[in-house]
Amino acid sequence: MPDTVEALYEEADRLYYDGDLDRAAEVYKRILEIDPDYQPAVHSLGIIHYDQDDYGPAVDYMQRALVLDPDDVYVHSNLGKSLYGMVHMGDREQAETIARDWMRRFPKNRIARHMGAAVTGDSLPDRANDAYVAQTFDEFADTFEEKLEELEYKAPALLAEALKRHVTDDGLRILDAGCGTGLCAPLLAPMARRLEGIDLSEEMLALARKRKLYKRLDKAELTDALASRAGRYDVVVAADVLCYFGALEAIFAAMRKSLKKGGLLALTLETDTLPAPFHLNISGRYVHDGGYVESALAEAGLEIVEQTVETLRTEYAEPVTGLVLVAVRS
Ligand SMILES: C[S@@+](CC[C@H](N)C(=O)[O-])C[C@H]1O[C@@H](n2cnc3c(N)ncnc32)[C@H](O)[C@@H]1O
Repeated sequence: MPDTVEALYEEADRLYYDGDLDRAAEVYKRILEIDPDYQPAVHSLGIIHYDQDDYGPAVDYMQRALVLDPDDVYVHSNLGKSLYGMVHMGDREQAETIARDWMRRFPKNRIARHMGAAVTGDSLPDRANDAYVAQTFDEFADTFEEKLEELEYKAPALLAEALKRHVTDDGLRILDAGCGTGLCAPLLAPMARRLEGIDLSEEMLALARKRKLYKRLDKAELTDALASRAGRYDVVVAADVLCYFGALEAIFAAMRKSLKKGGLLALTLETDTLPAPFHLNISGRYVHDGGYVESALAEAGLEIVEQTVETLRTEYAEPVTGLVLVAVRS
């Protein structure tokens, strides 16, 4: 076995990426015997526990890694995911205590703010902030499509089918709002004269770009970007994107503004009957009250022409149902 910390770390990483998590963990621990403050090894041990659904130790290692490097955005992100796992395994009280402490220690950190609120229910934000979204999806980009296939993700196909029932020609100017890696693109391209995409994550956009199906891709926040695109689109599609928005008034108004008269908005949303307009789930995604969605659309001047309840994907092997909805700019 090598004996410098750097060489050991390289060896441990190789074992980790080969899928030998137990031996990788042994080498990361060996590093900590030599240098107990070697932050990358502390973080990596947290990741291994997370990968093994062992969320308590994962959270402990992430917290220790944050003491050693308070600015490491990857550790913040992994702490959020580990706390989500902890709640999922039934340890809500402990997860809430740790999340409150995390938010108190890092009041300016935007990942702590969003995921802390998701775990504790405190200080509910109106939408997932830009830094949280960009960090989450930059990290997720490489494995996104593989993961969504595992989750039997159907939103793009369901939206394309719904749209086909309402569009009358194939020369449309279409915006894929929150396009991600471009899973909707092959389904939308046959209807489009010009297909554009907007997303906050550079890594997701880089994969969308490789498809060569979009005429234009912009790294931008949707609400802001659409404000300056009045009357531009025949169709705006938001597949699994509005679950990163709690309050829908501003984004619906911006989407409506960007549509031509008679233009269509096609979206998916996870809905329920709630005592409030929306709820932030421990996953960091919002669930909306069905009645609220309808009234927010009407208020924005968008008239529902079709809505169905479908299974959109799975989460922890359970089906997740949601709305597939098409509305017209009235
Ligand atoms: C779950 S992915 C869905 C991607 C794609 N629509 C699909 O169906 O595969 C959600 C995407 O929305 C983007 N997103 C979330 N909030 C956003 C915002 N406010 N502005 C722009 N993009 C946003 C994320 O970066 C991410 O790529």
